[in-house]
Amino acid sequence: MRDQNETGDRRRSRATRSAAATIKPEGVVDKPKGAQKGSRKLASEPAEDLAATLSRKIVGQPEATRLIVPYVQMFQAGLAPEGRPVGVFLLLGPTGTGKTKTVEALADTLHGSEKNMVKIDCGEFQLEHEVAKLIGAPPGYLGHRETQPMLTQQRLNASTSERSELSLVLFDEIEKAAPSLTRLLLGVLDKGVLRLGDNTSVNFEKSLVFLTSNLGSREMLREIHPDFGFQSAGSNNRADLTGKLRSIGMVAVRKRFSPEFINRVDSIITYQPLSTEALALILDQQIADLQNHVNTRLGERSFTLEVPAETRQFLLDHGTSQEYGARELKRTIHRFLTQPLATLVATNQVPPGGSVMAAVAESRDALAITARRDGGVVVKPASPPTVLLVDDNRDLLRFLERLMADAGWNLVTAESAAEAKLAFAQHKPDAVLLDYMLPDGNGVEVGVEFLRAVPGMLVIVMTGTILPQEEEALCEEHNFPVLRKPFLASDLMNQIRSRLAAVSGASLSA
Ligand SMILES: Nc1ncnc2c1ncn2[C@@H]1O[C@H](COP(=O)(O)OP(=O)(O)O)[C@@H](O)[C@H]1O
Ligand SMILES: [Mg+2]
Repeated sequence: MRDQNETGDRRRSRATRSAAATIKPEGVVDKPKGAQKGSRKLASEPAEDLAATLSRKIVGQPEATRLIVPYVQMFQAGLAPEGRPVGVFLLLGPTGTGKTKTVEALADTLHGSEKNMVKIDCGEFQLEHEVAKLIGAPPGYLGHRETQPMLTQQRLNASTSERSELSLVLFDEIEKAAPSLTRLLLGVLDKGVLRLGDNTSVNFEKSLVFLTSNLGSREMLREIHPDFGFQSAGSNNRADLTGKLRSIGMVAVRKRFSPEFINRVDSIITYQPLSTEALALILDQQIADLQNHVNTRLGERSFTLEVPAETRQFLLDHGTSQEYGARELKRTIHRFLTQPLATLVATNQVPPGGSVMAAVAESRDALAITARRDGGVVVKPASPPTVLLVDDNRDLLRFLERLMADAGWNLVTAESAAEAKLAFAQHKPDAVLLDYMLPDGNGVEVGVEFLRAVPGMLVIVMTGTILPQEEEALCEEHNFPVLRKPFLASDLMNQIRSRLAAVSGASLSA
């Protein structure tokens, strides 16, 4: 392959050779004749939409969209040549710049989910014998019936959707593949067919094949910034830089792969290191995704997430780097934002319809996350509740103890009414869980006593027998929930959670 701008010409010659259609480099089709590979026309996604959607999802890599979309269009128009994949792309460039993300974004756009593709991690096929996992062992090999090939026609078909028959096949990090895998690939790229160990075959005529590689990316980074982080190259030398990076990539690829292999690639796309602006945009998108997730998952209990500029910078500082691009961004958001947020939600500290402010903490090594009510009133960050458990059944005590510790709650236990009263005075619990039959008394009566001492206190009664009418009436009068053993642990936890939330909701500072 001489230069990637000439790929359209090569495509044209191939297409002509297969007596199908003549296609201009932009993917515009002239003189369509018959003999086209059948394809269902995709009604939902006109080409401009596809390009717009893709370039929104793949930030700062306009070349990717520009070079890939025409091949999708060609397939949708039913004009892809026969006897080979619809398109073969080699994606080059530094880590974390969107190579894998490109195929995910395409799968999401074409089929409705990022997972609708067949991804082969070439790192898993570094040794010759491992390649059998991919295509299955040939008959005659011991146990060949047990080796289910990973790459089958069935899997390929299953990765498509109602919306489109075009399958997406990703060979990730091909530089790691064993030579025999590269040889198999050669056949796929050339004829669009892969023969499996059991002599059946997989047809790639309705597939886009993507090969990604980090080859040359180290040299590329050195070219851009010997010692400086990612930056946007000035607009006038951006084109210059693109050309330079491409030739660095090509040199590395030529060193590793044979000319016939490279010749079968339709387009080589060189991914650019992400500029500061691109990284900021990716962060904005991921925060918007998180908000969407909150809205859809929490429904009526959802809230508005406020992430000021300083916090965004904090996340960028921790989640992006020259070496890994945007790769660590998701994990960073998860660690500093999503996880603390989940704790806040799980302990009912976020009032529905309110907002949550994620500010940089004073210590500057974490985020301080606080909930506000609708009117901007700050919710007191409630400390985890303290629960007093009173039961002489040690197994149950121990079980509940573990459960509550997992929920992050403080737990005090007592095995008798006398112990309970001591613990109550000493620990001032937020909730008390009392067994009805205590060795030295009646749990319901103890509960009434506690409630008298602390009005509004949450008391839950547990019982293994039917409560006598008198006790039943007491519970009703004082609004004690009664849990009949055996009960589900989750029921108990939810009881406490929802009742405590109602109480803490009343104690918001005005
Ligand atoms: N250009 C980009 N546009 C949007 N997100 C990106 C981009 N580059 C990287 N990311 C983010 O970083 C993660 C890792 O990127 P990935 O595409 O796997 O990198 P690689 O180029 O090493 O294949 C993605 O899942 C995505 O969240
Ligand atoms: Mg990748």
